[in-house]
Amino acid sequence: MPQISIPPEVGRTLYLLAKISGATRILELGTLGGYSTICLARALPSTGKCFTIELNAEHARFANNLDEQVTVIVGDASKQLEILAQSGERFDFFFIDADKPNFDHYLEKAISLAAPNAVIAMDNLLYFGDSVLDETNDNPILAKLRQVNQTLAQDPRIESMLLPIGDELGIAKVKSV
Ligand SMILES: C[S@@+](CC[C@H](N)C(=O)[O-])C[C@H]1O[C@@H](n2cnc3c(N)ncnc32)[C@H](O)[C@@H]1O
Repeated sequence: MPQISIPPEVGRTLYLLAKISGATRILELGTLGGYSTICLARALPSTGKCFTIELNAEHARFANNLDEQVTVIVGDASKQLEILAQSGERFDFFFIDADKPNFDHYLEKAISLAAPNAVIAMDNLLYFGDSVLDETNDNPILAKLRQVNQTLAQDPRIESMLLPIGDELGIAKVKSV
């Protein structure tokens, strides 16, 4: 298992954000061994549910059976998001922590699956420190993260901020229409 879980301060922040927002249906992208999943699921009321999507079957197996409130969905996040959308699912808290080259797509999907006033958290928005800010660095992942930061800052459907913890945690609230 690679050591790429969120650090404890990000775990605590996610827990509190989910708790304060009163989330009852949480969707996470990127389970790994389930550390962030546990932080999120602990914030749920007893009737709440946390769904977490993981591509790697071995990681998913490790996180499986965490708790009856947690469902681990094995598969590619894009495909699974499509399936959730087709079944009319809605979520009030999202944590996006998988597959950075598709972060823009995942943000868009989260907005479309959002219940009114949903919260979207995204990890690693200043991946590897300041390199995202260096526009001369044309690494495609950094370019994608620059684009996602811009969307978070400017998209009229959301209000957002960047929290300087971990690798920088983006937090957005979807505006009610
Ligand atoms: C940074 S780790 C997640 C860490 C976890 N959220 C935590 O803090 O404990 C990213 C995870 O996303 C998974 N992943 C990568 N690409 C994916 C995809 N396309 N769909 C779903 N999961 C993916 C990886 O296998 C890995 O387990």
